[in-house]
Amino acid sequence: MKKKIIVANWKMNGDFEFCDQWFLDFVKNLQNNKNLIEKVEAVLALPFVFIDNMTANIMEYCIEEAEKNLSKEQKNKEEFDEKLEEMILLKKPLSLAAQDCHYEEKGAFTGNVSAKMVVEVGCEYVILGHSERRQYNFETNEIVAKKAIAALNQDIVPIICVGENKEIRDEKKHLEFVYAQLLKSVPKEVKAKKIVIAYEPIWSIGTGNVPNNSQIQEMAALIRKICDEKFKDFAEEFFILYGGSVDVSNSKEILAINNVDGLLIGKTSLNCNDFFEICKNS
Ligand code: PGA
Repeated sequence: MKKKIIVANWKMNGDFEFCDQWFLDFVKNLQNNKNLIEKVEAVLALPFVFIDNMTANIMEYCIEEAEKNLSKEQKNKEEFDEKLEEMILLKKPLSLAAQDCHYEEKGAFTGNVSAKMVVEVGCEYVILGHSERRQYNFETNEIVAKKAIAALNQDIVPIICVGENKEIRDEKKHLEFVYAQLLKSVPKEVKAKKIVIAYEPIWSIGTGNVPNNSQIQEMAALIRKICDEKFKDFAEEFFILYGGSVDVSNSKEILAINNVDGLLIGKTSLNCNDFFEICKNS
C-alpha cells in the first residue's frame, strides 16, 4: 500500500526557537508511535532560512538513534555507518520541502533560490504554484511547469498545487478550470519517479470551509484520470493530496476518500501535536 504523504506548510511563520520546539514535540510524539514512519511520510515545508537548522535537527536525531541501535558486542565504525544510513534512508522522522524554487539553476535573480540550492540544504520536495504564490507573485501555469522541470532535474519531487476560486466553483466551471491548470502546470519534458499534485480549492484555504466528500472525490478522480491519460509516460507515480482547512477533526474522513493519497496542511500544522495527531490518524 502507498504510504500517505502528510505535508505541513508553515507558510511565512515561525522563528528558530519555534523550529526547535516543533521538532522536539514531533520527536516526543514519535517515541510512543515508532511505527508511524512505516505508514506515513511526514513532510515539513518551512521558510528557506530555517531549512538548514531543521536538517541539522533531523541529522542529530538520526545519529542518536543509530547509536542507540548499535549492538552491544560489536560497536565499530562500519556498524554505525550502516545504522545511520538505515536511519536516514528508511527511518528518518521527517522529510523537508521548500515552499518554492526558481526555474533557473543560477544567475542574476535577486531574492530567489534555485532547485539545486534547495537540494543542497536538505529538501526532497518543493511546493510549486501554491495559490498564494500564484496570487501575490503572479506565477502562471507556464512558470510553475518550468519550476517543476528544474526540480525534477535535481531529483526533487514537485508538489504542484492546483485549485479553483469561489467564483469558478459557483459558476460550476471548477472541473474544466483544474483540468486546464493541471495540463499546463505539470511538465511533459522530464521523466520523473514521483510527482505530487495538491488540490487546494482557494475558497477553502484558511477559511474553515471544506468541500464535502463528494466534491473532493469528484476532483481527485478527475486529477487521477488526467494523470493516467496524459502524464503516465512521464512519471511512474502520482500522489494526490487535498489541502484547505484540514484539521484534526476532518482529516481522517478526507483521507478515506478514494484517490486521496495525503494532505497539505497550513494553519493546523503550526501546532505540532495536532499535525502529529493527523499523521497518526492516517
Ligand atoms: P490551511 O492552508 O490548511 O491553513 O487552509 C492550506 C494551504 O494553503 O496549504
